[in-house]
Amino acid sequence: MIIDGRLVAQKRLDLVLKQVESSGCQPCLATVLVGEDPGSKMYVRMKHEACEKVHIVSVKADLPATAATGEVITKIMELNQDPSIDGILVQLPLPPQVDASRVIQAVSPEKDVDGFHPCNIGLLYAGTPRFTPCTPKGIMTLLEEYNIPVRGERALVAGRSIDVGRPMAALLLHRDATITIAHSKTRDLKDEMRRADIVVSAIGKPRFITADMVKPGAVVIDVGINYLDGTLCGDVDFDRVKDVAGAISPVPGGVGPMTIASLMENTYMAAMERSCTNVP
Ligand SMILES: NC(=O)c1ccc[n+]([C@@H]2O[C@H](COP(=O)([O-])OP(=O)(O)OC[C@H]3O[C@@H](n4cnc5c(N)ncnc54)[C@H](OP(=O)(O)O)[C@@H]3O)[C@@H](O)[C@H]2O)c1
Repeated sequence: MIIDGRLVAQKRLDLVLKQVESSGCQPCLATVLVGEDPGSKMYVRMKHEACEKVHIVSVKADLPATAATGEVITKIMELNQDPSIDGILVQLPLPPQVDASRVIQAVSPEKDVDGFHPCNIGLLYAGTPRFTPCTPKGIMTLLEEYNIPVRGERALVAGRSIDVGRPMAALLLHRDATITIAHSKTRDLKDEMRRADIVVSAIGKPRFITADMVKPGAVVIDVGINYLDGTLCGDVDFDRVKDVAGAISPVPGGVGPMTIASLMENTYMAAMERSCTNVP
């Protein structure tokens, strides 16, 4: 079974549009982009396009590549205090001179629609999430939409980043999976992976997960966004692993669209939680 992220994301966007329209509110997302990285600019543009589709207002706060940590934080403080803004998204990665963790901590937890603020990570781990990071949230939506059982299953999350691997493991744990988190120091990844009923790969290495690493019938979710010889591909050797896996998400068209749909859901939620002061 091929897990179609575009289809599910469209369903979720349709739902957000309906919710926004019937709420009588106009949620507003602010994006903070530091520098001119083409990939980051493309992601920010896609987020603004998604906002437009679901009638969420979006505003840009662009800063030069030379911006210092203090300048980025000052901009975020302005957005925190602006009552017309419901959600703030800081596009990562930030340039090397900017202290990313200080910037993330400067975002008001009530507007942190990316869910990266330590308060929101803590709430997630406590089992009482407020804003769930968008990529793991989108993956859980995919598993639900495809009725993939999670309770009691062995799940392996490859990668332990704060934006994907760690929150992904927490969400699977809350759904009663038995979790292994693998990372670059994991001994014998293949052995660990072959035991897993569900594999989520967020490593960032093109076609690293090969067919012999996957248990027959396993569910394989590929988060990776990599380029190999100019072609976009995931962490998984899709063409071969699809013959072994029970279900698999492709790249492109799998997790990526779900990340954006989840951001729209979080922004709508943020607006509702702030009682939607931004009534048109
Ligand atoms: N589709 C989407 O919407 C979306 C969203 C976010 C990210 N992504 C993509 O997902 C990938 C991961 O993103 P990220 O932000 O989580 O990356 P990251 O911060 O670079 O983390 C990569 C993780 O992979 C681990 N790793 C590296 N080599 C490994 C190996 N050989 N075996 C096992 N683990 C290994 C690292 O381990 P250590 O901790 O030991 O270094 C680290 O925990 C990237 O390709 C990124 O572009 C996609």
